[in-house]
Amino acid sequence: MDRSGPVGFFDSGLGGISVLRETVRLLPQEDYLYFGDSLHAPYGVKAPEEVVELCASAVEHLLSQGAKAIVLACNTATSVAAAALRQRYPNLILIGTEPALKPAVERHPGGRILVMATAMTLKERKFFDLWNQFRDQAEIIPVPCSGLMEFVEQGILRGEQVEQYLMERLTPFMKVPVDAVVLGCTHYPFLRGVIRKLVGRRTEILDGADGVARQLCRRLEEENLLSCRTEQGTVTFQNSLDGPEILELSEKLLHYQDET
Ligand code: DGL
Repeated sequence: MDRSGPVGFFDSGLGGISVLRETVRLLPQEDYLYFGDSLHAPYGVKAPEEVVELCASAVEHLLSQGAKAIVLACNTATSVAAAALRQRYPNLILIGTEPALKPAVERHPGGRILVMATAMTLKERKFFDLWNQFRDQAEIIPVPCSGLMEFVEQGILRGEQVEQYLMERLTPFMKVPVDAVVLGCTHYPFLRGVIRKLVGRRTEILDGADGVARQLCRRLEEENLLSCRTEQGTVTFQNSLDGPEILELSEKLLHYQDET
């Protein structure tokens, strides 16, 4: 691996940009190559074997362009495909994403915690193990949100439609106070403003982006692959959907402020 190569990012669509922007903040001197598979989104409703194959071809696509590490910036893809990918590429630095349940439980012991994610993420073994690990320490309530990532793919980050969707999903759980909401899909941080409006100020909203960025930094350091340049690196977007609109939306999301 060449330390001057880019860090490859991959998601079923544009959600992984919420992880990318955090990583750029932590490691600004790196180059980044982001591939969004919006043509095949959402992954959460597909057969697991198909998701594994889509992830494998995305990884190939990024490696063929010199990626020195890959961030699987998608909870669904990580739950279903990370183990198979690690087997296929044993020497590759591959960083996955999982719902930030550990920090949520540490910050709210004995609390009431909602975990919003795709139905597939919540059904997979990986989430079951996570839930099993922490279920004695907090009340953990999974909230499947099929259909929610599609708003972000269309650039709908606020407004009546998305508020209505979230109100239907979240209000049944809000009769009793909620201490934390874990955003277990990388698309959801872009909807933080609307979610905040519904859950109020005293509920903490957490995502896993910061943990992923720090883990990537650690692994690159261990392998002596951190870029040695001092100036700002570049961010390049690619997408399986043809057309300039999706790339424009990607750029916009990279600079989007969720809660203003
Ligand atoms: N961003 C993906 C995740 O973190 C979206 C899932 C999907 O494509 O269904 O799970």
